[in-house]
Amino acid sequence: MRGAGDGAACRVEGVSKAFGAVRAVRDVSFAVEPGSLTCLIGPNGAGKSTLLHCISGFLRHDAGRIEIEGTDVSRWPAHRRARNGLGTVFQTTRPLERLDVWTNAMVGCHAWTRSDFLAGILRPPRQRREEREIREASREALALVGLEQRLLDAADALPIGQLRLLSIARVLAQRPRVLLLDEPVAGLRAAEKRQLTTVFRDLRERGLTQVLVEHDMQFVGSVADRVIVLDRGAVIADGPPEQVRGDERVISAYLGTAVL
Ligand SMILES: Nc1ncnc2c1ncn2[C@@H]1O[C@H](COP(=O)(O)OP(=O)(O)OP(=O)(O)O)[C@@H](O)[C@H]1O
Ligand SMILES: [Mg+2]
Repeated sequence: MRGAGDGAACRVEGVSKAFGAVRAVRDVSFAVEPGSLTCLIGPNGAGKSTLLHCISGFLRHDAGRIEIEGTDVSRWPAHRRARNGLGTVFQTTRPLERLDVWTNAMVGCHAWTRSDFLAGILRPPRQRREEREIREASREALALVGLEQRLLDAADALPIGQLRLLSIARVLAQRPRVLLLDEPVAGLRAAEKRQLTTVFRDLRERGLTQVLVEHDMQFVGSVADRVIVLDRGAVIADGPPEQVRGDERVISAYLGTAVL
């Protein structure tokens, strides 16, 4: 298996997850190199989201082991994983209505702040230093995704592409070292996809490890260092995009879905 040796940012070993009789993820193993961008692809129902949520801790896997930066986090709840460097961007995230972009991004900071986040933001700040830090971290996160100019705009007025960027910024404000994203460009227009492609490349340049679920092969080819293909819960191919695209098992798994 192609792996990252002992220095893996994220390691999945023999992970399985069933929902009743449905074996959504079956004995999946891989190790992700620090600073790399890995795409998880596969037909509908292949188990991509289930696997991602086993890693994030929002689902508990039935068997196997999950490590983040060498630590076995298998028994940790999601919030503990988030506090220890693992950020997750969900498929759909609604902004907090009637709050501005900046405040929406601050939500992510509760992963590392000591004081209660709502107390820190909504009441007069007792802990001024921490509030300054929160404001700075969320501004930096918004700058990373190119939303610096929209700090004080109402979040619910943003177009869908910028909302997607905001949901990423919110997680970046957690200061993760490993970022998981479930279909971050789904439903976006070509120009918006290009903008996100640039963001993912920039984050990669900064050394952030990224694992993202994606359907769009063109997008995958433009950002991924490595592609892992799932079919009916199991890994059927693993390698650089150009290699995976020509793989016969991958082609037949996708046959009739017109994705490749
Ligand atoms: N909460 C759940 N309860 C029961 N079955 C589930 C649950 N979540 C997922 N499944 C089933 O597990 C399998 C894998 O689903 P999953 O959502 O992980 O696939 P996916 O690869 O993300 O698909 P898509 O491309 O459609 O997002 C499917 O058969 C799905 O119906
Ligand atoms: Mg999914």
